[in-house]
Amino acid sequence: MSENNDNIINWLEFYIASGVDETFGDVPFVAESKPKEKVIEQPKVRPATSELALSSVDAVKSADNVCQNVTTIEELQKVVENFEGCSLKYNAKHTVIGDGNPKAKIMFIGEAPGAEEDLIGKAFVGRSGQLLNKMLEAIGLDRTKCYICNILPWRPPGNRSPSDAEIAVCLPFLKKQIEIVNPDYIFMLGAVAVNSLMGNAEGISKLRGKWMEYQNPNGKIIKVLAGYHPAYLLRTPAQKAKAWADFLRLKKDMAENN
Ligand code: URA
Repeated sequence: MSENNDNIINWLEFYIASGVDETFGDVPFVAESKPKEKVIEQPKVRPATSELALSSVDAVKSADNVCQNVTTIEELQKVVENFEGCSLKYNAKHTVIGDGNPKAKIMFIGEAPGAEEDLIGKAFVGRSGQLLNKMLEAIGLDRTKCYICNILPWRPPGNRSPSDAEIAVCLPFLKKQIEIVNPDYIFMLGAVAVNSLMGNAEGISKLRGKWMEYQNPNGKIIKVLAGYHPAYLLRTPAQKAKAWADFLRLKKDMAENN
C-alpha cells in the first residue's frame, strides 16, 4: 500500500475516533449552536471549557430549576434549547424533545437521537424509528396514540454512549416530559433507557418483560415495562420474538385496564 493510502487511512481513523460520521463537503467545519431569538449579533462560539465546567451537580440543579414552571412540551422545548449546562448541545444540530401525542396513555423512551434524528429534529425517524413504527402498528398503535422521546435531547457525537453525568443532567428534562404527558404506561427501549430512569443496573435481558413502577410528582403510579431497543433488534433479528412477546404483554395489560 502506498504512503498516500496510509495517510488517507490514518485521517479516516482519526475522523471516526473524533466522532465524525457524516460528510457534507470538502471543508471540515464544527456545527455552531443556533442563535437565540433577539440576541445582539455576535459570533456564536462554543463556550470556553471553564464556562461549561459547571460541576455536574450544579448542572443537574440548573436543569431542575429551569423546568420548575414548565407545563407544556412546547415550553419545555424552548427551555431545553436555551439550557447551557450540557456540552452535548454544542455538537448537535437540533434539540430533540418528544414526538407524538403529549396526551397519550403510553410513552416510549429510547436513549438519544441518532444522525437522522439530529438532522431532522424529531425522535426515532431513522432505521430504528422505522422498525419502532412497525412494532407499534403491530399492537394497534401509531404516533397519534403514543408519545416517543429519549433520555437525552441531544445526539452524543458519533453515537457514543452517553456518560453518567450527561444522563444525570438531562434526566430532569425527561422527568418533566413524563410529568406533562402523565401516561398510564411507559415502555423503556433498551438498557440505557431503563437503567437511567429506574436507577437499576441489570442488563436488558434480565429487566425485559418485568413490570416496574414509576411515580410522577402528582403521586400517580405509572406501570413501566422494558424491552430491547430497535437498533439492537436490527443487529440481532433473532431476538425479535422476545421483543414481540414484550409488546404483546403491554398490549394485553392496556386492553385489560381500559
Ligand atoms: N435511537 C434512539 O434511542 N432514539 C432515537 O430517537 C433514535 C435512535
